[in-house]
Amino acid sequence: MKAPPVALALAAVALAGSLGATAAQQPGAKQEFVWPARISNAKVLPADIGQERLRTTMVGFARSLGVRCTFCHVGPEGAPLSQLDFASDANPHKELARGMIRMVQKLNREDLPAIVGESESGRPRVTCYTCHRGSEHPETQLPPPPPRPAAAATPPQPTPAS
Ligand code: HEC
Ligand code: HEC
Repeated sequence: MKAPPVALALAAVALAGSLGATAAQQPGAKQEFVWPARISNAKVLPADIGQERLRTTMVGFARSLGVRCTFCHVGPEGAPLSQLDFASDANPHKELARGMIRMVQKLNREDLPAIVGESESGRPRVTCYTCHRGSEHPETQLPPPPPRPAAAATPPQPTPAS
């Protein structure tokens, strides 16, 4: 059985609250944010993505990068979600994110299957979190140096033959 629209709307409000973006949201407020079922300005994701997949995708982006919706979307930081202009492309991070989505799609659809074969589960192997790990700047420096071997673990040196 499908959840009634009211339950979905409440879920969206609860989520918005959990993101801390709608502290001022009042019950019965005129404008409540409701996740759309379609992306009106879709350039990478399927326009008919559906309410639930759009929600999990966007929340996934925000959590993977450790940011709020306003990192990519236009509107005042901390404003209720109903006041953000999600269809606008005026925030340059949105176009950057589109490039990242294309990169991840190509990795999962072409590059990884060519290297390690098709994914058995059909789940993506690489996500935004794979690199970002909760940060807008993934580690791009050299990896840390190897740990120093503990003194006790050092094998005894052979006595040099003389
Ligand atoms: C890392 C960047 C990023 C973050 C963070 C992000 N989004 Fe998005 N969002 C996008 C991109 C990119 C698109 C357009 C996808 C396309 O072009 O196919 C989009 C599209 C949307 C749309 C559809 C807009 C339309 O054209 O109809 C909604 C609604 C939306 N996002 C809501 C949110 C919400 C709510 C949050 C916070 C929980 C959020 N987004 C966080 C990048 C982001
Ligand atoms: C293969 C590793 C990798 C994956 C996977 C990845 N990114 Fe990135 N991303 C990077 C790197 C590297 C940068 C540049 C980091 C910097 O600016 O310090 C970056 C930068 C960004 C930026 C610009 C940040 C800024 O402050 O300018 C956005 C937005 C972004 N990524 C979104 C995404 C989204 C959304 C996804 C998932 C669809 C994603 N990335 C997946 C590696 C990755």
